[in-house]
Amino acid sequence: MAEHQETTPTTPKDFLLATLGGLFAPGLAIFLIVMLVLGIRSQLGAEDPEPVADRVVRERIQPFGVSLAIDPSAPRVEKTGEQVYNEVCGNCHGAGALASPKHKDAGAWAPRIAKGWDTLLEHGLKGFNKMPARGGEPDLSDLEVARAIAFMTNAAGARFEPVLKKERVPSAAELARGQAVYAENCAACHDTGMTGAQKLDDAQAWAPLLKQGKDYLYHAAIKGSFGGPAKGGNDKLSDADTMLAVDYMVEAARAAVAKAAKPAQQAAAK
Ligand code: HEC
Ligand code: HEC
Repeated sequence: MAEHQETTPTTPKDFLLATLGGLFAPGLAIFLIVMLVLGIRSQLGAEDPEPVADRVVRERIQPFGVSLAIDPSAPRVEKTGEQVYNEVCGNCHGAGALASPKHKDAGAWAPRIAKGWDTLLEHGLKGFNKMPARGGEPDLSDLEVARAIAFMTNAAGARFEPVLKKERVPSAAELARGQAVYAENCAACHDTGMTGAQKLDDAQAWAPLLKQGKDYLYHAAIKGSFGGPAKGGNDKLSDADTMLAVDYMVEAARAAVAKAAKPAQQAAAK
């Protein structure tokens, strides 16, 4: 018994210190390796800071440009086909990656061009086999994609105009559905003008918005515009329903604009 008492018993504290000591060295090694990898990765990422910075700045500027531009009827500044090609499409089409038709390779593009503009536009917007929708850049507008397609195909011998399909005309049932969605989710602001929302019957506010086209308005309603919440603040609202609400709003706003034009015409006639 006496002999046993001479060896110091391992207290929980000793045990803990020993364990932590044992963990510390490998832990430090792992930490250093992780830091090294992160360091390498951030250097790789830093290789090309300008386009990223450029894009971030442009994204920030856009909504302000739309809402506060001196000329409110000026459209959103859309990139040219060449800009879109350089920023997005060229990543694959520049070298023909994934067996994509290579830029300026007339032979590779000829059978594509033969499909006609509508098909190419549809494939550019919605994707086609390994060709991702909008080149994998969902922020590109329809017009920007169209311009990029025209840029590439025309460089391979086509003569396309970057035109978009005609606007979809909503059916009476769709408009009724849109009105219901509007009443529930949008009227609180757009009937009253609360928080600066454009009132539906405010022809002056809507005239420049209508000129921007429905795609812009859909986008603004779904993603939120400056001051306007995405989907009217109801994140459970589907994109499709939001678009129907916009269809209804556009219909009402067009009527308001037409009505506002009439008295002016009558006054002018007097
Ligand atoms: C990730 C690679 C990639 C990017 C980025 C890319 N493409 Fe493509 N694209 C492809 C591939 C692959 C094909 C061939 C698909 C096939 O024929 O199966 C293709 C085909 C096409 C076609 C021909 C479609 C047809 O019907 O034959 C068009 C038009 C096109 N791309 C436009 C664009 C535009 C515009 C952009 C930029 C906004 C873009 N692409 C960005 C990979 C890409
Ligand atoms: C909480 C208030 C509020 C609600 C709810 C609301 N909006 Fe708006 N909306 C705004 C404001 C504010 C603006 C003006 C933004 C600006 O000045 O550009 C706006 C603008 C818009 C625009 C024009 C885009 C633009 O650039 O100005 C559309 C289209 C729109 N809203 C659609 C909708 C739809 C569809 C709904 C319902 C699903 C909805 N809004 C619900 C406040 C609201």
